[in-house]
Amino acid sequence: MTLNTVEVEKNLASELIKKINEKTAVIGVVGLGYVGLPLAVENAKAGYQVIGFDVHTEKIEKINRGINYIGDVNDEELAELIEANQFIATEDYSLIKNVDAVVICVPTPLDVHKQADTSYVETATKEISNYLHKGMLIVLESTTYPGTTEEVLKPILEQPGLSCGKDFFLAYSPERVDPGNKTFKTSNTPKVVGGMTESCTEVAVTMYKNVLEADIHEVSSPAVAEMEKILENTFRNINIGLANEMAILCNKMGIDVWEVIDAAATKPYGFMPFYPGPGLGGHCIPIDPWYLTWKAREYNYHTKLIESAGEINNAMPEYVINRSMQLLNKKGKALNGSNILVFGVAYKKDIDDYRESPAIPILEMLDEMGANWKVVDPYVNHFELNGSSYTTENDITEQMLKTADLVLIITNHSKLEYKLIAEKANLIFDTRNSFSVDMETKGNYFKL
Ligand SMILES: NC(=O)c1ccc[n+]([C@@H]2O[C@H](COP(=O)([O-])OP(=O)(O)OC[C@H]3O[C@@H](n4cnc5c(N)ncnc54)[C@H](O)[C@@H]3O)[C@@H](O)[C@H]2O)c1
Repeated sequence: MTLNTVEVEKNLASELIKKINEKTAVIGVVGLGYVGLPLAVENAKAGYQVIGFDVHTEKIEKINRGINYIGDVNDEELAELIEANQFIATEDYSLIKNVDAVVICVPTPLDVHKQADTSYVETATKEISNYLHKGMLIVLESTTYPGTTEEVLKPILEQPGLSCGKDFFLAYSPERVDPGNKTFKTSNTPKVVGGMTESCTEVAVTMYKNVLEADIHEVSSPAVAEMEKILENTFRNINIGLANEMAILCNKMGIDVWEVIDAAATKPYGFMPFYPGPGLGGHCIPIDPWYLTWKAREYNYHTKLIESAGEINNAMPEYVINRSMQLLNKKGKALNGSNILVFGVAYKKDIDDYRESPAIPILEMLDEMGANWKVVDPYVNHFELNGSSYTTENDITEQMLKTADLVLIITNHSKLEYKLIAEKANLIFDTRNSFSVDMETKGNYFKL
């Protein structure tokens, strides 16, 4: 008796679902960064044998020695999983042949022309396709434009002569991890999953149900899941753009924008507070909307709202410099030659990631204007600026505060000693509303 295509697909899907439910499936995670490492750890904790793949030799060595480098991963948990051989890391893609399901978490940056750069996803997929075997599940988690799973991954994976949905299963499930978030982690954040076929969705959903505590929300296609992720981050980008525009106008009108937002937030429906700041940062909010803008051009559509918000948000570092100049000017000082003590190079509070941080263009402009700057950041020890490496100060001293012409708060890390700063600094420009009201009394404190 020969089986028809649908029966073959169903059989392969049932076999994989059985392996996943019995925890005999081997899970691969490609890209062991902020997204991939926590996910690999969750899979291993759920009882799966996990193989992590990365191209960064130093990361592989660290993991295999049980050394953690991601804030949201528990050091002891990782060490125990490595010790127990439940999780190993490797650069050797040939181990994909032992893997039943693989999740791709590689970077999706923009190129210099603000166009989607899917080259990491393509490279990783090609490596996987070399060892792809029947009955395997591939899930893309990297944030990307709608259509990537179908238009980029599927053709590469089908090259060895295997057919998507029939011989292997393919799905997209966006990662929503919010580094530094104390409440929502990889395991308890609801997950959206969309497969190329019903079986693809079913297999991927089974995997996540076995690993995560959170609800799994199925959608009808990878494109829906890809688009919903971009919607989430575009929603944040645009609302932060609105908050920034309000901040600029409120400053001109002598109104405290933070008080305005707090007042608006008392409305129990129809309003959600977003806050202004020195500019967007991180690997998601400043980047993801441009993936959509880029894709929209293929459909002859101009994403006006996204681009307006982008313009406002991208101009915030320059706005911070202009306000700093005005504040120094009132004290009879120029930015040129002034000592600026910058607090925070990380893109948001209590994390060690400075990718796309607004602190970088701000420091570049301070350099261009001839200011002398020093950075205090208890989370980021070193950072790169224009090809040079800089070391930050971890602690604040009274002397540092007294000798600074301006203290510029870019990142409101909880660990910073705000009381000491308020007491000893000559002039403070706070882009994050970091100080409590009773600290703001000396007349030398200014907010965005
Ligand atoms: N960081 C976040 O907060 C976050 C949240 C949600 C979604 N995302 C998305 O998840 C994806 C990954 O982001 P991240 O922050 O984890 O990035 P990351 O840079 O921290 O990690 C990516 C890892 O992939 C590795 N890598 C690159 N090319 C590879 C290849 N060919 N094979 C194997 N490994 C490779 C890198 O060495 C790195 O370790 C991106 O698409 C991002 O937009 C990130």
